[in-house]
Amino acid sequence: MHISIIGTGYVGLVTGACFAEFGIFVTCVDKDKNKIEKLKKGHIPFYEPGLEDLVKRNTKEGRLKFTTKIEKAVEDSLVIFIAVGTPPRGDGSANLDYVEDVAKEIAKSMNSYKVIVTKSTVPVGTGFKIREIINKNLHKKINFDIVSNPEFLREGSAVDDFMRPNRVVIGAESEQAIAIMKDLYRPLYLLETPFVITDIPTAELIKYATNSFLATKISFINEISALCEAVGANINTVAKAMGLDGRIGPKFLHAGIGFGGSCLPKDTRALVKIAEEKGVYLRIVNAAIEANENQKERLTKKIIDAFDGKIENKTIGILGLSFKPNTDDIRESPALFIINRLIEEKANIKAFDPAAIENTKNVFPTIVYCKDAYSVAEDADAIVIVTEWNQFRNLDLSKIKKLMKDEFFFDFRNIYEPEKVRNIGFRYFSVGRI
Ligand code: UDX
Repeated sequence: MHISIIGTGYVGLVTGACFAEFGIFVTCVDKDKNKIEKLKKGHIPFYEPGLEDLVKRNTKEGRLKFTTKIEKAVEDSLVIFIAVGTPPRGDGSANLDYVEDVAKEIAKSMNSYKVIVTKSTVPVGTGFKIREIINKNLHKKINFDIVSNPEFLREGSAVDDFMRPNRVVIGAESEQAIAIMKDLYRPLYLLETPFVITDIPTAELIKYATNSFLATKISFINEISALCEAVGANINTVAKAMGLDGRIGPKFLHAGIGFGGSCLPKDTRALVKIAEEKGVYLRIVNAAIEANENQKERLTKKIIDAFDGKIENKTIGILGLSFKPNTDDIRESPALFIINRLIEEKANIKAFDPAAIENTKNVFPTIVYCKDAYSVAEDADAIVIVTEWNQFRNLDLSKIKKLMKDEFFFDFRNIYEPEKVRNIGFRYFSVGRI
């Protein structure tokens, strides 16, 4: 089968490379000539474990192609995935301009029956909108189907998530489209991956509801962490015991500095907006968003309060800039929030991240970037662990202590045992533990 993927961003590229690995002939299309030229040579524009190998191997074996020419890609494909960005507008709603442009271009190049699939996270109703746009722009009567097939990829483990998903969701209206989609995902069918076959609006909503629920779980445990600090309880033990209840489950109950990234913050806001437009007020999702903002503010205040509010000219060392480990993505990263606030307070910032320094330089060109955690510690008044990269889990804490000017240690991912760090002589602060 030949398919094409329009948009070689995160979702598009992972989807394209993984389908090629399934043995399907894939053409990835992007308007950006420079990006396509680089991809042809196997250069991936972002960091994602395992992806480069997959792209190189499948390109070499002739199953994965890159082009800027959408017409030919559409002509040659039975299935066309739309995987372009849906960036947030100022009011939180998703901007569908790119999706709509692509729908028009697909319509103009269609020569036979096609299945047009949305893979990007799109507001409920987008599938129907795409159908309208295509119908309007077709130059002759051609049969086609619209499918919603949302992605659930986590950055840092996207390839694995694609190859071994918890479920595949297919929203469609025709038996033919469902059969073609099942055929595409046959390797997963054989692994007994659950398939949820439903209508288009339900599939579109499943994605938002899933991400909003995950965000709610994180915000819930983060709020309980504040209460733990107030009553002298330990959030790690609370979360562990809660997670042992099969109805709750242990995942996404790690208290920390708040959720970030390209999906959870954007999708929660977009869902609230979608609901508002239909006259529905989502109290819980709204509260999850608010609690997340509060957590970032609350923990940043912890740093400032530790210095009795006098943080001007103090040197604060930030460990971790990406919104989570194993990615160079800094979108909505809590690290940016903290750095911004501390700069406002006139603190000096030193920082290290194993992958995200280059991206952060675009936002904060003048802070001091270091080659590792130890050079961050040199002459620092405080160390703040913001992202739980493995590199930060086994630091030589005595060495860090000797290098530092003062002894403040903020562990905002709870990766160390308080007693162990305090025994070395640090003034240790974490989340939901005293
Ligand atoms: C998320 C969804 O998990 C994925 O299914 C969807 O398709 C895209 O959005 P991603 O943004 O890559 O994936 O990251 P995820 O692993 O979900 O983490 C999101 C944020 O929540 C991170 O900032 C992370 O640090 C934070 N988090 C996660 C917590 O603070 N505590 C947790 O227990 C889990």
